[in-house]
Amino acid sequence: METAIAKKKTPVVQEDFLPLQGTDYVEFYVGNAKQAAHFYKSAFGFQSLAYSGPETGVKDKASYVVRQNKLTFVLTTPLVKDNKIAEHIFKHGDGVKFLALRVDDARDAWHQTTQRGGISFMEPQVLQDENGEVIMSGIHTYGDTVHLFIERKNYNGAFMPGYKKWETEYNPSSTGLEYVDHCVGNVGWNQMNKWVQFYEDVMGFRNILSFDDEDISTEYSALMSKVMSNGNGFVKFPINEPAEGKKKSQVEEYLDFYHGEGVQHVALATKNIVETVTALQNRGVEFLKVPTTYYDDLLERVGTIDEDVEPLKKLGVLVDRDDEGYLLQIFTKPVEDRPTLFFEIIQRKGAKSFGKGNFKALFEAIEREQALRGNL
Ligand code: FE2
Repeated sequence: METAIAKKKTPVVQEDFLPLQGTDYVEFYVGNAKQAAHFYKSAFGFQSLAYSGPETGVKDKASYVVRQNKLTFVLTTPLVKDNKIAEHIFKHGDGVKFLALRVDDARDAWHQTTQRGGISFMEPQVLQDENGEVIMSGIHTYGDTVHLFIERKNYNGAFMPGYKKWETEYNPSSTGLEYVDHCVGNVGWNQMNKWVQFYEDVMGFRNILSFDDEDISTEYSALMSKVMSNGNGFVKFPINEPAEGKKKSQVEEYLDFYHGEGVQHVALATKNIVETVTALQNRGVEFLKVPTTYYDDLLERVGTIDEDVEPLKKLGVLVDRDDEGYLLQIFTKPVEDRPTLFFEIIQRKGAKSFGKGNFKALFEAIEREQALRGNL
């Protein structure tokens, strides 16, 4: 017997089973959290926010939380040798451990994702103090990276229970960084589609853009990339995989030095890239540079833009246009000695894409750096 439901022909509007409000924080495991926190304050313009460690009753690790506008970084280091954080740093060097996502219901986020095949990292846990409660849960993603789900609607403390407010005399000014625009993962050979499927099936994301090795190959090295986005577009995770080229792919170099899959870069949004990058360069942040010939025919390539070309050329800011507008972007050199994690600074002026028109110039700049390291 046919049911009424089976007869219905109206298109099924898929409900977003994992509504995300954006990135809550990014947590890095680092060799020296005190110094890393100072670096993100002095060089990137973050402010002291919260601290957890022996003084707050935590014996095996110390964490410094720094914030700039909607951007929150947590820098965590182990205090003892036999623990998971120490193992993580021994294997990967400094890197991103947690991409924490803000949700309205962390219990539901965990149930929805684990019942769809996500592997639990942490069952829903309620953390309480005098400022209320935070509920967190988490699932594993590529490599040793983890997505945490953070529910903090009933919390009004500095960061979360277990942390105390961290007040310092040294508070360098902001550089205008606002929020996480996207966060890119490097995965192994033939693994990209597996992780695309993971984000589709387990987290309800969609593949909004794909780049094959034709789009992203230089004379020597190549990679493939697919961009995954959640329902409302607040969270975007491009996934890169190495491709065969004449020489070693930049993704392969990352995998060799990170000893596995992990976060390649975090893109930080600004409302004024010229001001932000000027401030970052003045504070010693190092960026990849493209040849100045890139700017010779810039306006023919991208059309009219609001910015003067000269400051962009001086700073090395790249421009690309798509159907909806344009974007300005620039990439730091790796922020640790291993050629692994780096940052992108991005300003969007309508464009929702990722700078495909800059890939060639950019990857050639990366290859020059790879060659200097003897890894090309
Ligand atoms: Fe990016």
